[in-house]
Amino acid sequence: MSESAPIEHPGWLTSGDFTEADEPLRLFAAWFEEASRSEPRDPTAMSLATVDADGLPNVRMVLMKGFDERGFVFYTNVDSQKGRELDATHRGALMFHWKSLNRQVRLRGPVTRVDDAEADIYFASRPRLAQIGAWASKQSAPLESRHAFERAIAWQTAKFALGAVPRPPYWTGYRLLPLIMEFWHDRPFRLHDRVEFCRDTLDQPWRKTRLYP
Ligand SMILES: Cc1cc2nc3c(=O)[nH]c(=O)nc-3n(C[C@H](O)[C@H](O)[C@H](O)COP(=O)(O)O)c2cc1C
Repeated sequence: MSESAPIEHPGWLTSGDFTEADEPLRLFAAWFEEASRSEPRDPTAMSLATVDADGLPNVRMVLMKGFDERGFVFYTNVDSQKGRELDATHRGALMFHWKSLNRQVRLRGPVTRVDDAEADIYFASRPRLAQIGAWASKQSAPLESRHAFERAIAWQTAKFALGAVPRPPYWTGYRLLPLIMEFWHDRPFRLHDRVEFCRDTLDQPWRKTRLYP
């Protein structure tokens, strides 16, 4: 945002004063709803940070497939790098950046796998080709050529020619349960608003702190 010519945008006009909010999940839901209307591409896209055994951070995009008071859910391959790091540390961080609204939301907390029944329901809702892709991809393992991947897809397509495609045992969801949720909204002249909600455990009340931008 240019300091000399701040441009008004719908976020400033419609969001009210989000720093008055005292419940972060409801605030997230309101922002997500606005982002769903204003983002040209997927508002569910979020970056997921993990850390490896040497403490080296790792970050990549995933898609949020649900959120409620139990946490924020995404799906992946448990044998992927992120899956292995999540299963080793049981911790992660998520970040949404909605460019159309100039807003950022950050979340940190423990991560658990969703239960099998929940993963089955979500997997069954995916397009058939995506289901077959989950069987064909050894996510994050070396792939000798694109041709080898296409062969694997053809093989899995033939294998599941008839009937429903079951969920692979190594493909499931993870749920991040936020202990920290931070909301950032751009304001003119870089005088941004920033509010952090923290709780010590999942059943404790949230504490709200305004932070310097
Ligand atoms: C917008 C976007 C959304 C993505 N969503 C997912 C997702 O929901 N699940 C997933 O496993 N990978 C997703 N990916 C791919 C990951 O970013 C990543 O490349 C892959 O999961 C391997 O990561 P890893 O080796 O750290 O496990 C997405 C990529 C982009 C750019």
